[in-house]
Amino acid sequence: MNRILLFSLCCLFFFSCKETKKEKETVKGLITENAMVVSAREEVSKIGNLILQQGGNAFDAMAAMEMALAVAYPYAGSLGGGGFMVYRLENGDIGSLDFREKAPLAASKNMYLDSITDKVIPNKSTLGAMAVGIPGNIAGIYASHGKYGKLPMDKILAPVIALAKKGVIVTEKQQLRLEKYRESFFKVNDSTMLFAKDWKTKDTIKRLQLAKTLERIQKNGRDEFYKGETAQKLVDFMQKSGGIMTMEDLAKYEAKWRTPITFTYDDLRVISMSPPSSGGICLAEIMKAIEPYDLAEFGHNTTKSIQLITEAERRAYADRNYFLGDPDFVTIPSETLVSDKYIKERMSSFSFEKATPSSEVAHGNIEIVESDETTHYSIVDQFGNAVSVTTTINGAYGSKLYCEELGFFLNNEMDDFSAKPGVPNMFGLIGAKANSIAPEKRMLSSMTPTIVEKDGKLYMVVGTPGGSTIITSVLQTILNVHEYDMGMQEAVNQPRFHHQWLPDTVKMEPKGFSDELKAELTKLGYTIDATNSPVIGKVEGILILSNGKLEGGADPRGDDKAVGF
Ligand code: DON
Repeated sequence: MNRILLFSLCCLFFFSCKETKKEKETVKGLITENAMVVSAREEVSKIGNLILQQGGNAFDAMAAMEMALAVAYPYAGSLGGGGFMVYRLENGDIGSLDFREKAPLAASKNMYLDSITDKVIPNKSTLGAMAVGIPGNIAGIYASHGKYGKLPMDKILAPVIALAKKGVIVTEKQQLRLEKYRESFFKVNDSTMLFAKDWKTKDTIKRLQLAKTLERIQKNGRDEFYKGETAQKLVDFMQKSGGIMTMEDLAKYEAKWRTPITFTYDDLRVISMSPPSSGGICLAEIMKAIEPYDLAEFGHNTTKSIQLITEAERRAYADRNYFLGDPDFVTIPSETLVSDKYIKERMSSFSFEKATPSSEVAHGNIEIVESDETTHYSIVDQFGNAVSVTTTINGAYGSKLYCEELGFFLNNEMDDFSAKPGVPNMFGLIGAKANSIAPEKRMLSSMTPTIVEKDGKLYMVVGTPGGSTIITSVLQTILNVHEYDMGMQEAVNQPRFHHQWLPDTVKMEPKGFSDELKAELTKLGYTIDATNSPVIGKVEGILILSNGKLEGGADPRGDDKAVGF
């Protein structure tokens, strides 16, 4: 009898394991043999894939996808924004490109403060012409293509221009976004602007003005945007709209090659963006702080793992807000911040018994020796090169200021500076002197385009939008794969949480965290906020599977899509 019972139990165990395995298999993303791109819109991914199929490489696909986002995803893609790219070549060489916006020459430290009250003037750094930084996207694609591209730029831009002329079909999610921001478009644009129309799902939005701008760039190259007719039209528009951008600002803009931040975590090597993004350093600080613990044993999204990750995040963001800014303007103690000794010291006050209040966590003690709406796309080409790009105009539709004649929205990236020490920006981030405004300075970013190697080989390409939650969303996606054995799509789908030192709350996606778990964390001293952010991040990832195939993870939180061959 006992033996029968044992046999039945074994059968039950065997079949339930098979069932779990089967369930796991159903959440796999697109699998391809050779190459893959993942982005926020199907049209954009299809163009990236087409460029690869035409014999182009990841850098060619990057140029096409960056511009295609401007056509198909104006919420975050634009010629009027900036971004960061991290790459890993097929031979293992790595690097990164900074095409972040810069403050105009006429910018100044107190430009967003009322001269009488000394208070931050509401909306000045977020809405309209004064919010705009000098755009870097065109410089970025030309710098990257100039160094590593294979196909001629006119061939790369051709399908993008064709898409702009043919138009892009409005999705349900896009209709909702346009409805949400329509009122604010009117605040800084004429009522006749393209996006002011009551666009409905399945309508087609043609981008004829943008097509013309892209055609001029296709013909005249990079300088068309920074010194040519397009530059002049942009500056005229900015001046007319009350901004301070000049021809000199555009002419002086250059994208910069930077050395990425690299660090190890178990058998992984993580390659991510260096300042002026805080992404790489914060990711390193957090991952190094949690590395000594057995997260897999704690379990995915359990009280213990959430506690540990939250406490590491709290400390890393406190450092971010104090130490980080544009490395061309401030000295950043990068090496110390990610050193084992420093991180051990930072985590010495951590206990599983109760939360450390943020009021008790200042930035770490480091002596500085003199000597701060988005979208992501990931690419792996058929040659083995990987490119990870996060690009942004900051808020949804940027400053909402739309240049009708040129066909794109302008960023409101100036809000990523610290307008006044201690006053939070639109992501609730508090900055310090290191991220104060100065002419030609780049504002601190959280964008974290990342590439991960395992055993010296390409393993994962990942990134996301989400303002201050970018770093923690990238972190959780990597951990989901590495610690919790998930595939790429499964890792991307998981519910996310976030802590950024101040405000002292654990932000959680409303779905996916049980009431018991939240109650347990509350009892331990954590303040849970599970109502304010319907989604945290919109991750696009590619995972190299053990058989060499590629698995895409396109975030179901948006209209995102993986395409490949
Ligand atoms: O660079 C940054 O950190 C921000 N400008 C990113 C903005 C963003 O991710 C908005 N998307 N939700």
